[in-house]
Amino acid sequence: MNKKTISTKKTVFGFLPAIAGALALSWQAALAFHPSVYVPRVPEDQLERVREIESPFLPSPEHVEAGKKIYFGKGLCVTCHSNNGKGVKLPGHSPRDFTDAKWQDLRTDGELMWVLKNGSPGTGMPIRVGKVITEEEGWQVIQFIRTFGGN
Ligand code: HEC
Repeated sequence: MNKKTISTKKTVFGFLPAIAGALALSWQAALAFHPSVYVPRVPEDQLERVREIESPFLPSPEHVEAGKKIYFGKGLCVTCHSNNGKGVKLPGHSPRDFTDAKWQDLRTDGELMWVLKNGSPGTGMPIRVGKVITEEEGWQVIQFIRTFGGN
């Protein structure tokens, strides 16, 4: 393999997160998926355990502020979930409306963290924690998402 091929490869790998995101939108949307926003995203056999997982960080303005930076910055959340948390229209399954009080109420922080770690199978929601943000940053962005619900 000559030098040129190697450098081209590097460039391609640099864009991988963006490509993966775009691919996720097309192929995942084709998978079977329950359309109701209120149906849990965590698989049945893990749900009880995951629901109980609590954030190790107490809510604080500092965490919310850090979460906001991630949401609008390296987490790329804003590209799909939009400035006001209502979400942009996507093919297949659009993002959750984070301002929906009923949805906010139904989901525990543990469930939201599961989605950040696993993505939401069958939708465009990509894996974030472990890929583009750390677990601590995940908890912070969850605190920020809670502010859309008026909390
Ligand atoms: C490529 C688009 C995209 C990006 C980027 C994205 N999301 Fe999502 N997200 C979605 C879609 C689509 C859904 C709806 C999935 C569903 O209904 O299961 C979703 C759902 C969610 C859910 C809710 C799942 C549930 O339990 O109902 C959370 C929480 C979430 N996203 C957080 C985030 C955070 C935080 C970020 C940034 C760190 C982010 N998302 C980045 C598209 C995206």
